[in-house]
Amino acid sequence: MKNRSLNEMKFEHGCLVAPSILAADFSRLGEAISGVETGGADLLHVDIMDGHFVPNLSMGPGVVSCIRKGSDLPFDVHLMLSEPGRYIEPFAKAGADHITVHVESRGDLADVIRRIHDLGCSAGITLRPGTPATSLRPYLEMVEMVLVMTVEPGFGGQSFMEGQLPKIASLRKMIDATGKKIYLEVDGGVAVGTARQVKAAGADVLVAGSSVFGAKNGFAAAIKAVREDA
Ligand code: DX5
Ligand code: ZN
Repeated sequence: MKNRSLNEMKFEHGCLVAPSILAADFSRLGEAISGVETGGADLLHVDIMDGHFVPNLSMGPGVVSCIRKGSDLPFDVHLMLSEPGRYIEPFAKAGADHITVHVESRGDLADVIRRIHDLGCSAGITLRPGTPATSLRPYLEMVEMVLVMTVEPGFGGQSFMEGQLPKIASLRKMIDATGKKIYLEVDGGVAVGTARQVKAAGADVLVAGSSVFGAKNGFAAAIKAVREDA
């Protein structure tokens, strides 16, 4: 049994912080991951891009399997893929603990979510900034996490889209109405200043790429600053 499930997460600090390795120095990826792990990260956010669903490429299951060997952090894998169903098994086998898929991607997503669970992972559903919150309704009761994108997926280091705050708040309401424990994660431009806005709107998991890996005063201080802002 894995001991890295989302249900084991402790909200000692109010919000969970998930550094996104997309912003790390890939020539020293192992060191960067150890740095955020000892620096207090709760999850490691791993962005997977296929150059089709989004106009960028990132990494495949081979990289995930390598970094798995050096980290005990729960891996929160965000699939920005046109056909996620084709890749969930390789990523689960590579060491993903949680897998999030986009509602705009192709395939029978209810079946994809069931298969994520069958592979021993928790499942998440996410949406682009232009996609309405209601599009997630059919999947809400099936997932352990909802992810709201506050930038257009594809690249790190973009500016936070404040216009997504009402969507975070409405998804918080929709989640609460289910009566289930479903995490609400926010991804894109989260830093000191925006962390408090997304927390106030109802988020409890914060993805932070550039604000952590690009920090000048070290990963631990950057994680603490984001967490304290929220
Ligand atoms: C964007 C990715 C994000 C990104 C966040 O497509 O899903 O996870 O790495 O990076 P920052 O925090 O720099 O916006
Ligand atoms: Zn992401």
